[in-house]
Order: sequence, then structure tokens, then C-alpha cells
Amino acid sequence: MAQQVILTGIKPTGMPHLGNLVGAIQPSVDLSYSQDKQAFYFIADYHALTGLKDAKELSQYSRQIAAAWIALGLDPERVVLYRQSDIPEVFELNWILACFAPKGLMNRAHAYKASVQKNQENEESDLDAGVNMGLYTYPILMAADILLMQTRWVPVGGDQVQHIEIARDVAQYFNRQYQREVFTLPEALIDEAGAVIPGLDGRKMSKSYGNTIPIFAPATTLQKLVMRIATDSSRPGEPKDPDKSTVFQLYRLVATEAETEAYRQAFLAGIAWKEAKDQLYEVLNRKLSGPRERYHALLDDGAETLDRILVEGAPKARAVAQATMKKVRKAIGVE
Ligand code: ADP
Ligand code: TRP
Repeated sequence: MAQQVILTGIKPTGMPHLGNLVGAIQPSVDLSYSQDKQAFYFIADYHALTGLKDAKELSQYSRQIAAAWIALGLDPERVVLYRQSDIPEVFELNWILACFAPKGLMNRAHAYKASVQKNQENEESDLDAGVNMGLYTYPILMAADILLMQTRWVPVGGDQVQHIEIARDVAQYFNRQYQREVFTLPEALIDEAGAVIPGLDGRKMSKSYGNTIPIFAPATTLQKLVMRIATDSSRPGEPKDPDKSTVFQLYRLVATEAETEAYRQAFLAGIAWKEAKDQLYEVLNRKLSGPRERYHALLDDGAETLDRILVEGAPKARAVAQATMKKVRKAIGVE
């Protein structure tokens, strides 16, 4: 049987952080080693353009995402790694799919709805203030990314499930219209662990809250950030509830089971916050120092290796894209 396609994209909108590592990067790297699947992973740079208009930042963040993936174990020999902007077929399909996407479906897409809601709360007279058409039709471009590669599985975080469902709906409208299976129907693949990683202030770790621990921060910065994690005011010797502590939640992500159990006991026995944070820093640094070195090596050599990997990925992705577009053009009658 042919291998099933597994595909995911990451938007280059900032420095990757521990939440991205656990929620997106690590699961996609692990999945890419399944024997029965062909993985296509890409940098969703045109999605980032909906909000990011600084050319230098867009280009830097794009390289950083590619470097992060490779530094954390993605094997470019196994995975087709590419930039969305290198695949012109995505944008051709984007238009075609737009002609099959009901406008009402876009009105209900959550990123757009969130902008409208914000405008309502701020008593803006124009509820669409600050919304560009790229943001509004974001799910269509995403459907194009997915359907173009005949994707079966899309590993994503819970916040993206609605987008995958939209892609699936649009694929079904298209297939039904032309009475043939032009597109494979995609499905979201949600990581079982599904953990929401807390940030320095205890809220969800997110660029938008400015509470992140960047994966590749230098050791000294890592240490400073760990010391800034919010804790309660309990003193050394007072028992601490591990399940309510960000320090503990982060520790268990990177430590072994035996270490985590010992750490839990230390919390119950009243470990001092300073000592708990020193230990957290140790295990974080142990996990991240290897990837950090590889990441900087990839970015520092003028990013030549990195650029070569991306340049080599594009034609492999385009070969699949072109085969799909052939079927699409034939179906709609513009052969
Ligand atoms: P941010 O909230 O920092 O802007 P993104 O929305 O760009 O992050 O998220 C990129 C990917 O990382 C998504 O798949 C998302 O599910 C995952 N992710 C982001 N933050 C977290 C977190 N705190 N815990 C788990 N996964 C996360
Ligand atoms: N929208 C996704 C995000 O914000 C990124 C993305 C773009 C994507 N195209 C995709 C994810 C296709 C999976 C499949 O994280």
C-alpha cells in the first residue's frame, strides 16, 4: 500500500519556545519516524504575513523554525522540509478552493471571530477593524497546503482542529461536485498528551503573553528565566503542591520518570524554591544544550546547509503538488 501522507506547517512568527517544542515540534519529529507514512513539513511563511510585515523578521523566523526542527531531530532525508512560499501551486489551488468555500464558513473561523469579538469589547464601530483579507481567508490557504499534498493526517494542537475540518469540508464539496476523488480527505492528529505548557507567569506559554522560555536561549538566559518563574510565597521547609506549580510542570516535561517522582517527594517535603529552580534549570539545560549547539551551528554557517535543505525540499513537494494540480485542472475544465 502507498504510504499515507502526514503534513504540518509552523508559522514563523517568533522565536520557538518550550510550548512549541512540546505541543508541535517534538510530536511532529516523533511521527516522522513512522514507517508507513511520508512526512511533508513546511514553514508557513505566507500565513505569517497576515500579521508580520517586517521582511527581516519574517526571513529570520523562517530560518529559525527550519533550524529548530532539524536541531531537535528531524531528518531531512526522511522528511520533505520546505517553505510554503516556494510552492506556487499552493496559491493556484488557494483560488480554486476559495470558489468552493462558503463565506459563512469563514465567518465562523475562530481567528476571525476572535478579532471581531475584540472589536466588540473595545466598542469599535467597525467590527472588521484590523482584519485583512489574508486573516479572513486564512483557512482556505491552509486547506490548499493540506489538500495539495494529498494529506491524510495533520498533526496539530487543539486550536487548529477547526481549520482541518474546514479543509476536509471543502475537499468534500469539490469531490462531490466533480464526482471523483480528486482530494484525499484529511484528519487532524492530536497529540494524546495534549498538554498546555505553562509560561513564566503560570498562564499558557505564548508569544502573545511575553511569558516564554525560548528553546535555544543561551544557558545563562535560561537560568535567569527559570529564576523568574512565578511561585507561591511558601518558605523552605513548607510542603508545596507539585500539581499547582509551574516549576514542577516544566520539570516533568524533561526529566525521567524516576527524577520526576523524586522531585515530587521533595516538593511534599518542602524543598526551597531556589533549590527546586536550580534542579529545574539543570534538567532543562541537559535536554537543550545538544539541540542548542546544533541550532546555532545551522544558523551560523551563513545558514548554507539550512538553505540547501529547504531548496532541495521544494522540488520534492512540487512534484506531488503538480500531480494534484493536474487532476484539479482536469476536473474543473481548464486543462
Ligand atoms: P504562540 O501562542 O506562542 O503564538 P503558536 O500559536 O504559534 O504559539 O503555536 C504554534 C504551535 O505550538 C501550535 O501547534 C500550538 O498548539 C503549540 N503551542 C503553542 N504554545 C503552546 C503551549 N503553551 N503548550 C502546548 N503547545 C503549545
Ligand atoms: N495555522 C497553523 C498554525 O497557526 C500553521 C499552518 C499553516 C498549518 N498551514 C498548515 C498547520 C497546514 C497544519 C497544516 O500553527
